[in-house]
Amino acid sequence: MNKLILVTGGTGYIGSHTVVELMNNGFDVVIIDNLSNSEKSVLDGISEITGRRPYFEQFDICDKEKLDNFFKIYKKLDAIIHFAAYKAVGESIEKPLMYYQNNLTTLTNLLECMVNYKIPNFVFSSSATVYGQPDELPVTEKASFKPADSPYGNTKQIAEDIIRDTVKVNPDLNAISLRYFNPIGAHSSALIGELPRGVPNNLVPFITQTAIGIRDELKVFGDDYNTSDGSAVRDYINVVDLAKAHVVSIKRMIENKIKANLEVFNLGTGKGSSVLEIVNAFDKVTGEKLNYKIVDRRSGDVESVYADTKYANEELGWKARIGLEETLLSAWNWEKYIRNRK
Ligand code: NAD
Ligand code: UFG
Repeated sequence: MNKLILVTGGTGYIGSHTVVELMNNGFDVVIIDNLSNSEKSVLDGISEITGRRPYFEQFDICDKEKLDNFFKIYKKLDAIIHFAAYKAVGESIEKPLMYYQNNLTTLTNLLECMVNYKIPNFVFSSSATVYGQPDELPVTEKASFKPADSPYGNTKQIAEDIIRDTVKVNPDLNAISLRYFNPIGAHSSALIGELPRGVPNNLVPFITQTAIGIRDELKVFGDDYNTSDGSAVRDYINVVDLAKAHVVSIKRMIENKIKANLEVFNLGTGKGSSVLEIVNAFDKVTGEKLNYKIVDRRSGDVESVYADTKYANEELGWKARIGLEETLLSAWNWEKYIRNRK
């Protein structure tokens, strides 16, 4: 019988790509998502790519009773990958309670059920935001947390503490926390991708929406950083590469290869790119000339952050493979696909 994996937030951006990779690797998948930031039609894209449809349950994971009923039905889960959370940094500053409530209640509810129903393996979506502006670059998993710049970032720091404390007293529970750098791009089929609601906060969706004519121009936040061209540097990682790391993590836990109850890995490429380098690379691969202007820095942004990927490469046995240009092209193809669809 195939192993069954629960993917919370599985119709979302990273979740949907991970569901595809899991199913392509022979896993069965059940998704829980309340569709607060995704659409049910994502299931059609997943089915078209994989030739199979994942099970889907639509409800809010904060609802403990519904969650408990779910576990009464799906007793035999082999692992859980927990993506479901709110993720907009700016919104979290405006509405901190909404972020603490959703991001932490979903986590504690799930962990409680895992203990009660003896589900052994947990993968958590963490973020490079826990590092703030690191003292040393590239940043390793051993770097200490900096005070969070936003309630969103704080939920990721607190979440890692909650998981650490929980596995400590539940030796049968194993967890892997994956710290994502900047996931971008879409599946090569262009059948699934990122669906930002309203004006995108993130760089690449803003670029593709500008190129297609929905936005007038990209605002580049700052050209006075201490970087090669003055714009801020991030580690942009292809979402399919990122998704594959989840499959590797699940197999590692199922095959009992983990070295500690809680393991932490950076998921990045190890290479930093500046905002202007991203704009130039986008122009190159699409043949478009993006309209942009330099404006002031965005508050809360760090200057430069990129991953030391040695531990993930060697211990997890995973490496990001897809290049930046191919990734930007996939984001552009996805943007064109969704605009034609509407
Ligand atoms: P997303 O918003 O596309 O996906 C999250 C999904 O969770 C959505 O489909 C949403 O409807 C669902 N959801 C939210 N709260 C829920 C709840 N209470 N009950 C049920 N479903 C709920 O986000 P994403 O970009 O795919 O991010 C996935 C995870 O990765 C999040 O935890 C996010 O914080 C983390 N992360 C994302 C990034 C990034 O840049 N995208 C970077 C670092 C970490
Ligand atoms: N940027 C612009 N113009 C824009 C949007 C972004 O110049 O319109 C710049 C930002 O200033 C930053 C870079 O592009 O220098 C990347 O910005 P994003 O908003 O795409 O990403 P962040 O690095 O700010 O944050 C992302 C996620 C967070 C996550 C973090 C680390 O949004 O959730 O990566 O993983 F915590």
